[in-house]
Amino acid sequence: MTAFHYHRGTLFVEGVDVHSIAEQYGTPCYVYSRAALIAAYDGYRAALADRDALICYAVKANANLAILSLFARLGSGFDIVSGGELARVLAAGGQPGTVVFSGVGKRVEEIRAALTAGIYCFNVESEAELARIEDIAHALNARAPIAIRVNPDIDAGTHPYISTGLKRNKFGIPLPQAEALYRRIHSSPHLEIKGIACHIGSQLLDPAPAAEAAARIADLANRLCAAGIRLQHLDLGGGLGISYRDEHAPSPVEFMRPILAAIAGRTEKLLIEPGRSLVGAAGMLLSRVEYLKFGAERDFAIVDAAMNDLMRPALYDAYHDIIPGHRRSDPAREFDIVGPVCESGDFLGLARPLAIAAGDLLAVTSAGAYGMAMSSNYNSRPRAAEVMVDGSLTHLVRERETIAQLFANEHSLPY
Ligand code: LLP
Repeated sequence: MTAFHYHRGTLFVEGVDVHSIAEQYGTPCYVYSRAALIAAYDGYRAALADRDALICYAVKANANLAILSLFARLGSGFDIVSGGELARVLAAGGQPGTVVFSGVGKRVEEIRAALTAGIYCFNVESEAELARIEDIAHALNARAPIAIRVNPDIDAGTHPYISTGLKRNKFGIPLPQAEALYRRIHSSPHLEIKGIACHIGSQLLDPAPAAEAAARIADLANRLCAAGIRLQHLDLGGGLGISYRDEHAPSPVEFMRPILAAIAGRTEKLLIEPGRSLVGAAGMLLSRVEYLKFGAERDFAIVDAAMNDLMRPALYDAYHDIIPGHRRSDPAREFDIVGPVCESGDFLGLARPLAIAAGDLLAVTSAGAYGMAMSSNYNSRPRAAEVMVDGSLTHLVRERETIAQLFANEHSLPY
């Protein structure tokens, strides 16, 4: 059974009609297919079958506990970027010993929490951060496990906002500086070298830049080994893209092939940090048409989801397919699919040919990654519910936020 399909003109997620999901849980609502999540994970398992490897799911793509616990059960590790993500992973039953901690701005409390929890490795992004981790480890009488995230200065060829491996980006430590830093770590009683890390960008559809980065990492590993510095792993980050429109997205097997070839001579364990490619295609944002509005120049379908629920179109001009909950036979008309938020940038899709009426359901597809995770309360809109479908079963995995929760943490002044 495919995760999303039409049966007699009606859209189903696995065995469940989207209309029954909308009725039971309301809209807007994120809907995930458990089978699609498992299939995506299995794609990576197949790609890495011949190699000692650990998949560290990038929690930022979608941090729902149900998704984290599913991946933990499948044997996944996790790539985190905050104390909040660490707490989620632990709450979901993730093993701290499979966690890598990336990010350029790790705070003292976050480093302390991660050390105390016993994470596998810190991906260090600056010399100043290394010094901070060393101080904290010293104070805790511990040894902090370290990989340096190197910046290989490679153009990932993706949207500038999600490119991370160029010299001008804030991420990582320039490759030429890494070797000296490894020597420093090697001589510290409070630091332990685990590996090398690297991540050059997201939504990559061509593996060539990632393979080039892998080659540079392998090269650094060679030099470190020659200097007597042993590594346990190479972490090549995430980045594999998905098809949002009609792009060809390589499978994990296709994507990993040249990357594995680039590190073929190395025996260290391979870590990867995929996010989008594990969850993106497995999720949709389900919303209902509130009004059709026929304007002077354009026609609008005003739906109950908005940029606060899915900000990728507004932020990156990202394209997501928008498909009807039920196919009508009337002729299609072009609509801009917009939300109720008071911004002209509040759209989910522009000029989409659709046959729809007020009250119809629309599904924004490929929304499982960086959808709910980047949602906000802008315009004081409660955040959407999240539902996991498993065969013919539905599970509410995040309740819709209530109006009361919106300002529960606020205080008005008494005067
Ligand atoms: N590892 C690190 C260190 C990262 O910074 C990221 C993503 C990943 C792994 C996972 O990358 P992925 O496999 O998902 O491409 N909000 C943007 C994407 C931002 C990606 C940030 N870093 C979007 O909606 O397209």
